[in-house]
Amino acid sequence: MRFTPSFLDEIRDRIPIADIIGRRVTFDRKKSNQSKGDFWACCPFHGEKSPSFHCENQKGRYHCFGCGVSGDHFRFLTELDGISFPEAVERLADEAGVAMPAIDPQAAAREKKKASLYDVMQLAVQFFRDQLQTADGAHARAYLRDRRLSPDVQNQFGLGYAPASRSALKEFLASKDIEREKIEACGLVVYGPEIAVSYDRFRDRIMFPILDARSRPIAFGGRALSADVPAKYLNSPETELFSKSRVLYNYAKARKAVERGGNLIVCEGYMDVIALHAAGFETAVAPLGTALTEQQVELAWRVGGEPVLCFDGDDAGLRAAFRSVDTALAHLKPGRSLRFALLPEGEDPDDLIGRAGPEAFQQVLETSRPLADMLWSRETQGGVFDTPEKRADLERTLFGVVSQIGDESVKRHYQQDMRDRLSSFFGAVEQPNARYGKQSDGQNRRGLSSKRFSVSESLMNSSLVKVGPGIPPLRETALLVTVINHPTIGLARFDELAGLKIDHPVLKQVHNALLNVFADAGETDDQPTPDAVKKGIENQGFAGELKLLDSQIRNNRVWQVLAEAAFEDALDGWLQALALHDRARNLSNELRVAERQFEQHGDEASFDRLVVLKQELEREQGTEALIEGFGLPSGRTARNF
Ligand code: UTP
Ligand code: MN
Repeated sequence: MRFTPSFLDEIRDRIPIADIIGRRVTFDRKKSNQSKGDFWACCPFHGEKSPSFHCENQKGRYHCFGCGVSGDHFRFLTELDGISFPEAVERLADEAGVAMPAIDPQAAAREKKKASLYDVMQLAVQFFRDQLQTADGAHARAYLRDRRLSPDVQNQFGLGYAPASRSALKEFLASKDIEREKIEACGLVVYGPEIAVSYDRFRDRIMFPILDARSRPIAFGGRALSADVPAKYLNSPETELFSKSRVLYNYAKARKAVERGGNLIVCEGYMDVIALHAAGFETAVAPLGTALTEQQVELAWRVGGEPVLCFDGDDAGLRAAFRSVDTALAHLKPGRSLRFALLPEGEDPDDLIGRAGPEAFQQVLETSRPLADMLWSRETQGGVFDTPEKRADLERTLFGVVSQIGDESVKRHYQQDMRDRLSSFFGAVEQPNARYGKQSDGQNRRGLSSKRFSVSESLMNSSLVKVGPGIPPLRETALLVTVINHPTIGLARFDELAGLKIDHPVLKQVHNALLNVFADAGETDDQPTPDAVKKGIENQGFAGELKLLDSQIRNNRVWQVLAEAAFEDALDGWLQALALHDRARNLSNELRVAERQFEQHGDEASFDRLVVLKQELEREQGTEALIEGFGLPSGRTARNF
């Protein structure tokens, strides 16, 4: 039986050649460059002691510089195992998840037709691109401009415009002598027995061509330009070319970018991919409006490196992240994992970069967490494990989840990791002070890793890094109350006040309310009195919150923030506290980076760095720092208050 070239290509595309060869030889770690998909080994076809057998995923070929053999995936199997070519094809097709072509004479004809469908899609891409430059496309161009997509970026992604017509594309393709059946097979028109006259599927939309792993157009995504259209995004239907669950948007470009360095970034939408690309993160891909499928995770792994999945930081995003944990688990293999990055609540990468620039996204990437961490969080978050029964239950759940891991060796390591976490988690409950002590001897990696866990976990729960619903941090309270009592500061320093990053939910509400008051005050010429500011906050429904802050200040006797304090003292204290506040936030970011370092290298030096950062944080977050900060400018000490 004859196989078509595109069928064989499909198999070669899906399986890195090193996967096949790696089962029969041991690659030379020093000489190989794993991240480039470039491997050396001793040749399996002739005896040798130093590796002169080379294979390269990018090319899908092997070659021995010693004995001269060379070939592709299939050749390797036929030569080494002595099986027939069709057998080799069948074996690999199965592994790649590619259906064997049916044994019928029409198969070849169908293949030929499929090839011609790519041409039809290419015509459509060009049509939409041309339309974007016409007078009809003016509002689409304006839309793209408003979303900060430069013409250069528009070109790189082949963006276009589908005019608001039921037949523009159809007629264009007909004028190129494309048969009706092909236009239908490409999913470009809506047709069916109920529909008398087929019509263009995409109308008055921005068009995003979707390319396959070899950069051929296989589908489109179309974004509506007006809000009153039922679907914001419309995708091509499933066709012979396009199977939504097996495609990642921007895969081909991102794969090349990963070869130049960096990890694949998996985000949620077209616009995110493009915004990331424009901001210099060229390794971004996205599924097409569905949760990440197993096939897409496989695609992501095929690129190499450690893909980072990005999710919105709200509940829905977290749920989606947790779902992806399950999707990935069964398919984990040694050296093949994922990281998870959570964005600020309510923002996608496009929003975040627009608001805070590429650095903000870089930071999100740097604070991404490994899969095992996500798994642990999912099972422990919000739980209370104060009885042996509850702990046993947690243990059972964790091991149940871990048992989904298909690969035996990865599973064993996960079991060990979960055991470590459990013992330090519960060990920490019993001996709260022993946790940070440095063991002088007998320290092995396991000791380190459980120590790491208890340190980082307690840090993550410290009030600066992650504020629970407990008592608001005093310094932040002081920052707000000062402004309430000295409205001049709020008006003069409105930008700094607005930029204040506050985590505690109660303080956040008061902060927002306060900003509203000042924003309103800015429109009149009158300077609000402290009482007017308080009224303004109470009127927004936060009287109780205000009381809480007030009593916290009085209990702690932070006199500078009270209305009686001199303006200079209040301002001094405010600026000091602001500086400390920023310092603490930076520290907690550094901490995340240090934690990551330790995770990756697990050495003493990065552990020590963690401990130092932790101590610094603890020092900074106490009342001491606050009172020092407030008291020093006036030459007073805390005891005088
Ligand atoms: P979002 O609604 O988060 O949109 O959908 P977005 O990517 O931020 O898009 P903009 O910024 O408003 O333009 C995320 C992804 O879900 C799919 C699309 O793939 C989109 O990129 N989606 C969304 C649909 O398929 N259909 C829809 O109606 C909405
Ligand atoms: Mn968006």
